[in-house]
Amino acid sequence: MGFIKRNISRNLIGFLTLLCLLSPNSGQSSIPSKQDGFWYGQKTGKEEAVLIEAFFDPVCPDTRDSWPPLKNAIQQYGSRVSLVVHTFPLPYHDNSFATSRALHIINKVNSSATYDLLEAFFEHQESFYGTATFNSSRAAVLDQIAKFVTKSLGNTYHAAIKSGFTDSKTDRATRVSFKLGCLRGVYGTPFFFVNGFPLPDAGSALDIKGWRKVIEPLVREKGKKPVEFRHVY
Ligand SMILES: *[C@@H]1O[C@H](CO)[C@@H](O)[C@H](O)[C@H]1NC(C)=O
Ligand SMILES: *[C@@H]1O[C@H](CO)[C@@H](O)[C@H](O)[C@H]1NC(C)=O
Repeated sequence: MGFIKRNISRNLIGFLTLLCLLSPNSGQSSIPSKQDGFWYGQKTGKEEAVLIEAFFDPVCPDTRDSWPPLKNAIQQYGSRVSLVVHTFPLPYHDNSFATSRALHIINKVNSSATYDLLEAFFEHQESFYGTATFNSSRAAVLDQIAKFVTKSLGNTYHAAIKSGFTDSKTDRATRVSFKLGCLRGVYGTPFFFVNGFPLPDAGSALDIKGWRKVIEPLVREKGKKPVEFRHVY
């Protein structure tokens, strides 16, 4: 009897889990109306450019450390390399979903400001995890993020960020990024794809030499001159 009961309850849990995964409300089965991601420098991917896709968690220290060399490489290769960043909030990082959502909110208002906010999060990550928000309610954290965004980008963004956190569209957009990462096998951050292929040592921050080793053969294959590297950061 006990065995049957246990089995039934286990099946019930399994069934409910399945329901949660498949429910159209979760957006799992619906295709988003536009491609996901934040294009760097307002470029969109040109067919002839090398495409780097980065899955970032705004409160992940490894993501933060990987950004300066990647930014350096993108700037130096100019139009030969395009970058699109997707948010991928890791469940074990406090407030990663809320900070990712803030990026989606700002991106809708002014896409150029998205990277400013991303860099601001990188610079002040410690205000958003661990003991800093341990005793804070969800409402208090959202308020803290709204104030942070306003302070980093300017007062003009205050209303947008406040209302953005109650807009279900921005919640959905942040989920779509996460789901895209799951579909592509992303399991940590930073995680990079180059021309659609995963970088073998994804997860460890590449330095500028590492990026050069990845990108140089690809641009050279197209008969272009190698890029003279300056260290700008
Ligand atoms: C959008 O953001 C960029 C970068 O922060 C800024 O220079 C520009 O003035 C902003 N545009 C508007 C319309 O607020
Ligand atoms: C959280 O609140 C409790 C009770 O007020 C306090 O004892 C604890 O030190 C607080 N923890 C942090 C990390 O602030």
